[in-house]
Amino acid sequence: MEGKLPLHIGIIMDGNGRWAKKRIQPRGFGHKAGMKRMITLAEHARRLGIKYLTLYVLSTENLSRPREELDGLFGLFRKYFTANVKKLYAENARIKVIGDRSALPDDVIKLLDDSEKQSPEGADFTLVFAINYGSRAEIINAVNRAVEAGERVDADSFSSLLYTDGIPDPDLIIRTGGEVRLSNFLMYQAAYAELYFTDVLFPDFTEAELDKAVENYAARERRFGKV
Ligand code: IPE
Ligand code: IPE
Ligand code: MG
Repeated sequence: MEGKLPLHIGIIMDGNGRWAKKRIQPRGFGHKAGMKRMITLAEHARRLGIKYLTLYVLSTENLSRPREELDGLFGLFRKYFTANVKKLYAENARIKVIGDRSALPDDVIKLLDDSEKQSPEGADFTLVFAINYGSRAEIINAVNRAVEAGERVDADSFSSLLYTDGIPDPDLIIRTGGEVRLSNFLMYQAAYAELYFTDVLFPDFTEAELDKAVENYAARERRFGKV
């Protein structure tokens, strides 16, 4: 692939429900297809040489969806996460989780905690799962921590108080599913991210679609306020 490669890509994986509806299937059918898609995309990003991939799995607002849908999502997560994380470790990838995991089921919290702790040292690819993640909650939490420490912040110290401490800002944010909004995803970190919106529903967002987004990014001129 020609041109510049983003170091960090974030994906707002939207459109699972509509994908299922088009097939006259329950929403969970779309989430299952989305979960499988997520795994193939992580592998593909890795192959492309992307170093950080952040996947928006669940927003703080999504936690108010019907219990049945959430239980289904956690069930899928248990099934696919455990099976694929070991494979990722073997490929020298580490897992990082951002968001407030305390509101999640106990066994899911353990799964997430363990996956971070057991990640290989010196991994050259970081897969970040944003779960019960919301930028506003993240920023408010950071502000409160600074207030409690009684210290003024600057851009560097503030970044280190965010869930994304140690992760470079995203270069490219992709949203599938046709909506043109960020829905509380990496609002602070995305200050200078390139945004890519596509109507393709997430389960249909293939490796070739990711290539297209990366090629589109490579053709852009990032000026960062300069002339
Ligand atoms: C995104 O797909 C996945 C989650 C938010 C968990 P949606 O479930 O929002 O799918 P649509 O937007 O209803 O199609
Ligand atoms: C954003 O999708 C959250 C995730 C993809 C995890 P939503 O479907 O929740 O976003 P809105 O409600 O359309 O903004
Ligand atoms: Mg949606």
